[in-house]
Amino acid sequence: MNHLLEMRSLAINLYRGKKLPQVRLCEGIDLDINVRQNFGIVGESGCGKSITCSAIMGLLSYPLSLDKGTSIRFASTDGEVELTRLSPQQLRRIRGKEISMIFQEPMTALDPMYTIESQINEALSFHTTSLSHREMHDLALTMLEKVKIPRPDQILADYPHHLSGGMLQRVMIAIALINNPRLLIADEPTTALDVTIQAQILDLMNELREGYNTSVIMITHDLGVIAETCERVAVFYAGQVVEQAEINELFHETAHPYTMGLLKSVTSLGKINEPLYSISGAVPTAGAFAGGCRFHDRCTHCMERCRTEMPALSEISPGHLCRCWMHDNAHEEVTGA
Ligand SMILES: Nc1ncnc2c1ncn2[C@@H]1O[C@H](COP(=O)(O)OP(=O)(O)OP(=O)(O)O)[C@@H](O)[C@H]1O
Ligand code: SF4
Ligand SMILES: [Mg+2]
Repeated sequence: MNHLLEMRSLAINLYRGKKLPQVRLCEGIDLDINVRQNFGIVGESGCGKSITCSAIMGLLSYPLSLDKGTSIRFASTDGEVELTRLSPQQLRRIRGKEISMIFQEPMTALDPMYTIESQINEALSFHTTSLSHREMHDLALTMLEKVKIPRPDQILADYPHHLSGGMLQRVMIAIALINNPRLLIADEPTTALDVTIQAQILDLMNELREGYNTSVIMITHDLGVIAETCERVAVFYAGQVVEQAEINELFHETAHPYTMGLLKSVTSLGKINEPLYSISGAVPTAGAFAGGCRFHDRCTHCMERCRTEMPALSEISPGHLCRCWMHDNAHEEVTGA
């Protein structure tokens, strides 16, 4: 295995009862995450970013399920594992220790009834049984210092509602990193924070990644966040990857009209006297995808064949993948989905 994580043909189904056919929420998703790589997943709301990462964590639950053809291989410290075949107990051992996650709303991930220290201890003791109380306390303290929390001794004794959103997100990062995971999944970790705090949290994450040898999957709807934090990015649209490239290539050699639209909406931000740009229309509802390219009714480059034929994800230059008929020249097809 050449990567830390190799996802192949990820497809997620939604069960709608016996009388209705299942709906495919995501399909044909292939991702390779390298060791120590910061990988971004970007796309509008409802494109399938979160469920893709829930699938990695083994956290999909009824009415959602993984399609049988999906493979997610992970290079754990004990060797290579196929995450989709692990038992719930084996997955629990991987979660929090080898792969951990931070969410948009830290309040929902923390228990309001317990102090910060007991929640850090719980994360620690679930995977490490040999530490004394003193050692756990010292480790928790060191961890809060690493995420630059002022007065860490006092914060350890506090309850979640005593802390601001930015401080809570730092606590979540501390909990996510305390077992030194190989992969950290950050699902919109800064969306709920104001801009200044957002920048501080992103700086902190960049800094910590260096010291921890951790790979990060950063999920966001904001290409600005991707530009600041990631080396490679996959653009999701309506449950598919429509473009994937190294960050500089994506920004300077943008190939997919949807990515062009996302970029235009970022660059129009802050331009005085110009109306804010947004891509017209909305992401189609899962299960109601018309034929052809899923972006066709919003695309200003739409051609006749776009309405009836689905373009494949193809390598248009080394390492740069795009799903669009405009790039239907000599190139290699990556996935037929
Ligand atoms: N538990 C569920 N039951 C039914 N549909 C679901 C469920 N979870 C997600 N979906 C659907 O799956 C699709 C992808 O959802 P997902 O949460 O992954 O989107 P997202 O890209 O993370 O969006 P956001 O930016 O809003 O977080 C959406 O159409 C959503 O409605
Ligand atoms: S395939 Fe056609 S409709 Fe789809 S993004 Fe490309 S040009 Fe637009
Ligand atoms: Mg989401």
